[in-house]
Amino acid sequence: MAQINPSILSADFARLAEEAEAVRGADWLHVDVMDNHFVPNLTLGVPIVESLARATDIPLDCHLMIEQPDRWAPQFVEAGAGSVTFHAEAAAAPVRLAREIRAKGARASMALKPATPIEPYEDLLPELDMVLIMTVEPGFGGQAFLDIMLPKIRRTRQLIDKHGLDLWLQVDGGVSAATIERCAEAGADVFVAGSAVYGAADPAEAVRALRAQAAAATAGAPWACAH
Ligand code: DX5
Ligand code: ZN
Repeated sequence: MAQINPSILSADFARLAEEAEAVRGADWLHVDVMDNHFVPNLTLGVPIVESLARATDIPLDCHLMIEQPDRWAPQFVEAGAGSVTFHAEAAAAPVRLAREIRAKGARASMALKPATPIEPYEDLLPELDMVLIMTVEPGFGGQAFLDIMLPKIRRTRQLIDKHGLDLWLQVDGGVSAATIERCAEAGADVFVAGSAVYGAADPAEAVRALRAQAAAATAGAPWACAH
């Protein structure tokens, strides 16, 4: 089943609990953590994740666009995140970090910026619950989808299938009604959408419509029935 994770980066930060309520029915709430070092933008940290986790039943999918994720990621699990994504480019010891995230009780996920290939990480995939293929340069919402990432999504899906892994494949950046089908056809099954959801008149309806579009695009694909 296709999962839709609205990104609160496009929400009103002064009303986060209500903005979570506005996307009731979403699979996860995507929380973009930026430190102004790994990316040229600054957003939020552990205390806000802690408060948000108490304020909503929707599980939190924390995307850490920060330096030193080895040091910080475990604190996001303790704060209540159900899934924590660190960037391959920033992690000092990705295997140790993924194991620590899992041991603390969250799903472990690794993200790749557009210029980072998946192939060097093939042997690490069994340590992960999700891989995030960025379809924009990380840092800001509302950027244009990078079509040139579609081959990497396809290659990642092939690696997952080759090893028979129960691994989710997430895409993030510029995902909308205009691009979600291409992502789904390439093999993605978890879709982050910021502006496409919170920019819509009815965000909860936008979630349902995106999910239906992705599901229709992958009807019959073997990975689409896995969860
Ligand atoms: C960008 C963030 C995304 C962002 C997506 O660096 O990781 O999660 O919120 O926003 P849209 O869907 O508007 O591209
Ligand atoms: Zn993100």
